[in-house]
Amino acid sequence: MVSEYMVNDRINDSREENWRPKYHFTAPAGWMNDPNGLIYFKGWYHLFYQYNPKHCDWASMHWGHAVSKDMIQWKDLQIALRPDQDYDDDPEGGCFSGSAVEKDGVLYLFYTASKNRDGKLYQTQCLATSKDGVHFEKYAGNPVIPERPEGALEPFRDPKVFAAAGKWYMVVGGSVEGEDPRGDGRVFLYESENLYDWRHKGEILESNGKLGTMIECPDLFEIDGKWILTCSPMNHPEYNKALYCVGDMDFESGCYTIEKLGNLDVGFDYYAPQSFLDAEGKRVTIAWQNGWLWMPWCENWGPTGQENWRGAFSVPRTVSLSEDQNVKLYPVRELWPLEYEPQEYCDYEVTTQRQYLHPADGKSFQMELFIDIEKVTSRYLEIGVLGKGEKATVVEVDLLQKIVSIDKSRSDRYGRGRMNCPVEIQDGKLKLLILVDCSIVEVYVDGGRYCITSNVYPKIEQTECWIDVPYKQAKIDKMKIASMKRFWESEG
Ligand code: FRU
Repeated sequence: MVSEYMVNDRINDSREENWRPKYHFTAPAGWMNDPNGLIYFKGWYHLFYQYNPKHCDWASMHWGHAVSKDMIQWKDLQIALRPDQDYDDDPEGGCFSGSAVEKDGVLYLFYTASKNRDGKLYQTQCLATSKDGVHFEKYAGNPVIPERPEGALEPFRDPKVFAAAGKWYMVVGGSVEGEDPRGDGRVFLYESENLYDWRHKGEILESNGKLGTMIECPDLFEIDGKWILTCSPMNHPEYNKALYCVGDMDFESGCYTIEKLGNLDVGFDYYAPQSFLDAEGKRVTIAWQNGWLWMPWCENWGPTGQENWRGAFSVPRTVSLSEDQNVKLYPVRELWPLEYEPQEYCDYEVTTQRQYLHPADGKSFQMELFIDIEKVTSRYLEIGVLGKGEKATVVEVDLLQKIVSIDKSRSDRYGRGRMNCPVEIQDGKLKLLILVDCSIVEVYVDGGRYCITSNVYPKIEQTECWIDVPYKQAKIDKMKIASMKRFWESEG
């Protein structure tokens, strides 16, 4: 039994860091992508992550590891998995994404071993176990799934294991031949009684030219009697980054019937989400707040390599289903104790005269707005964050077209563009939550019915926050702005 974990030095705090977020998880140094193996195990939340500890580019994947009591304040531990076996040792491969389950007090990690040999890609599903949640042993009989299903193409990865209907199940992403030479995306289902022997049960998602050429990081879980499949498609025709399906799952036949499809987050930077159950049994998800260079808007990963880190995770978001069966994501309530010096306003008058707000920390704060649209005569409302003069990232509400967007054309020198999402204004009220954290801007519309997440890389002096309307005026029913602490300063 581990009662306390040894804590690694998180970062060199004396280093000038302008872009490292304060309340979003980042790895101590080096490259990080997908969250892996999220689980609440023996009183601790475990977070593993795709990690290259050597430098800030993707290579030779390890599983980094951190633990937390509240899923907000994380402590880094030693690396959990290293590419050190013939099946996973490759500078262009390694221990790829996967998941965790607990059985009889033992932590089971499932991951994809990825290696290239003689111009061929081998991706197999492997297992490592641990009793103390710190030291992991790779199973001597690895891989537990040595072959991809018949007819499947080489990419075959990202096992997500879960218990359902008295058995163990695994969803794995992949593709088969299709009209597109890059393939046609699939999610495969496997079944097991003991976590070691796996049977291929079928396919629960077929792209058929509509959902992408290869499906990464699938996840399947139940909420309110419905089965939600989330996944990250490569080359989705509309460039969606993280899809959700709401439907029914029959584990006996292995059939999944989709009733609804949607987008988990419409921003530039939200990929490979993975879910887990919190200590109370609520479904929570964490995603990599970034993207790959094959996404048309990704030019590079920004300048954070200058600070010796690359890659951040979303704050944990609670997953729920709305009455009309759409998936909603909203920050977990464990985040709010990080708030300090809140400023609250009622009937706040907004005019064409830009008004500056002054959170104690202009880089890391949150802002909540309740808007009664009857009290707004302007078509647009604009909120500028991480600004200085004409520079800013602008959250724009277009009340005529019913669109909320993040516009980063004036944010920095690194990426341009705007991401929009539609809003349904119910009973004339609109609720917005904006999270700002050094190089991250997130907007949650209507309690998480829509989310927009984007990275921006402002200069150090860009700390202004303002609000205005381009013409006429608006009155905001209620508005709150509160700064957010750096989570590793608030460790008790
Ligand atoms: C998704 C992904 C996974 C893979 C991992 C490699 O971002 O491409 O499919 O397992 O990253 O780091």
